[in-house]
Amino acid sequence: MTQKKPLVIVTRKLPEVIEARMNELFDVRLNADDHPMTTAELVAAVKEADVLVPTVTDRIDAKVLSQVGPQLRLIAQFGTGVDNVDVETARRRGITVTNTPGVLTEDTADMTMALILAVPRRLSDGARYLRDHEGKWPGWSPTWMLGRRIFGKRLGIIGMGRIGQAVARRARAFGLEIHYHNRKPANAVIEKELEATYWESLDQMLPKVDIVSVNCPHTPATFHLLNARRLKLVRPDAYIVNTARGEVIDENALARALEAGEIAGAGLDVFENEPTVNPRLLGLDSVVLLPHMSSATIEGRIEMGGKVIVNIKTFMDGHRPPDRVIPAIM
Ligand code: 8YV
Repeated sequence: MTQKKPLVIVTRKLPEVIEARMNELFDVRLNADDHPMTTAELVAAVKEADVLVPTVTDRIDAKVLSQVGPQLRLIAQFGTGVDNVDVETARRRGITVTNTPGVLTEDTADMTMALILAVPRRLSDGARYLRDHEGKWPGWSPTWMLGRRIFGKRLGIIGMGRIGQAVARRARAFGLEIHYHNRKPANAVIEKELEATYWESLDQMLPKVDIVSVNCPHTPATFHLLNARRLKLVRPDAYIVNTARGEVIDENALARALEAGEIAGAGLDVFENEPTVNPRLLGLDSVVLLPHMSSATIEGRIEMGGKVIVNIKTFMDGHRPPDRVIPAIM
């Protein structure tokens, strides 16, 4: 007798090869038109599914989890960050949560580096100028489009996990000096390789660096880590780049500091209330804004899907899935 396949409900459209493989392995329900699911749709899904595959756009909070059916055993997040899932409540209800770490490290670090280069060197300013002034560019001048030099500056990385380290490696090749703040120091071999300086106190690091890069997860402990008080510690000629989560920065306080010229500029791929982008940020020339696309590569998305499949398959075969999220170490 063949075993009944688990019902897997996937909340957003995934790469074709991943959906095809899921179709072979599971009784899968896909989201063909890729619409973001409403809370009512999510509740309906958790009442029926054996496995839910959500993404960053789905809020799987205590309210949704209070309505799960007894059959839901696994939430296999398509994404590394799991701040959209109440992992502790899931654990208490006996539901395992997995994510997809590792496979988007290099892509996210590439885009972080791209913003580190783009903001001080006014890349998007220059590109926008040519489009907005078609045929009107008066030509080169010695004082035209001056930005700030990257080489020799100090980069302060907040969160020295996989992505933070990958950013540091790239930044070293561009001649940046690495400083970092983390709950604990990176291991000695990595610190030596990166010639990185550890700052136990974020407050002490902020005034010392020229570029701040946010690379930590969003957890209750990092919510508004860069609040109005800490943003005041950032130097007026410094830049902030965030490819992690919008919630780590108090976005209104950042907009105010940028408007007042208290911070020189920012490169933001993530926002506090996605998909809404703070209109105050949209009005500023000193910022480069991207629509949460740091990990958006075809290769990355397929590898993320591959991880989701392995996590589901391993779990359904009765083993511990490789990317189980443990609330205590988040
Ligand atoms: C993903 C991300 O695209 O994986 C993450 O944590 O932030 C993104 O780069 C998204 O979360 C997919 O769910």
